[in-house]
Amino acid sequence: MRVDIISVIPGLLEGPFSHSIMKRAADKGLLEVHVHNLRDWGLGKHRQLDDYQFGGGAGMVMMCQPLADCIEHFQSERTYDEIIYMTPDGKRYDQKMANRLSLCTNLMIICGHYKGIDERIREHFITMEISIGDYVLSGGELAAAVVVDSIGRLIPGVLGDETSALFDSFQDDLLAPPVYTRPADFRGWKVPDILLSGHTAKIEEWRYLESLERTKKRRPDLLNDNEGE
Ligand code: ADE
Repeated sequence: MRVDIISVIPGLLEGPFSHSIMKRAADKGLLEVHVHNLRDWGLGKHRQLDDYQFGGGAGMVMMCQPLADCIEHFQSERTYDEIIYMTPDGKRYDQKMANRLSLCTNLMIICGHYKGIDERIREHFITMEISIGDYVLSGGELAAAVVVDSIGRLIPGVLGDETSALFDSFQDDLLAPPVYTRPADFRGWKVPDILLSGHTAKIEEWRYLESLERTKKRRPDLLNDNEGE
């Protein structure tokens, strides 16, 4: 998969993809993340990207021309499955969206700043608008990093143990069960006996029931969301 991220502060995205699982994905050739500086498409001597809002009001708006030029530049090189705009008024991001996006070949992600981007770009270029939660970040970069990380780990071959993403919280609308490692007794705090029993079927059943219990207690909305599906 190839992801092109368009940003006015590309430095913010230098870290997230150069470590750990995302780095492994890149090293294996499974995920290519290219971060581009929108300033390269800025207007005039000052490489202007934003301007005052029509109708008045505080805050600058990202202009059409640099965004259109930048998007069309990359569109002339390949076809994108989605052109995504990161924005707090987008659709709330969840694991289902991550699963769907992980099947794509080329994604473009536009990171907003200031008051956001001119509405005409949203109408004519953007195919998907994503919010990572009901709070406002100072720009779309960190949100884009969240989305790319969650997608990248779902690409087959990225995680060492192919099955492990299948058991993540939310993958089947349940939170993950509790996990333990050695020692089996730490300060008298014991690991549940069942996990030491070696009885695979019983362990699976225990895990499922713990997942269900945890979801009921902490996120009952996830169970209700499924009604009627
Ligand atoms: N940009 C600013 N806030 C955001 C959010 N919550 N989700 C996505 N992009 C954003």
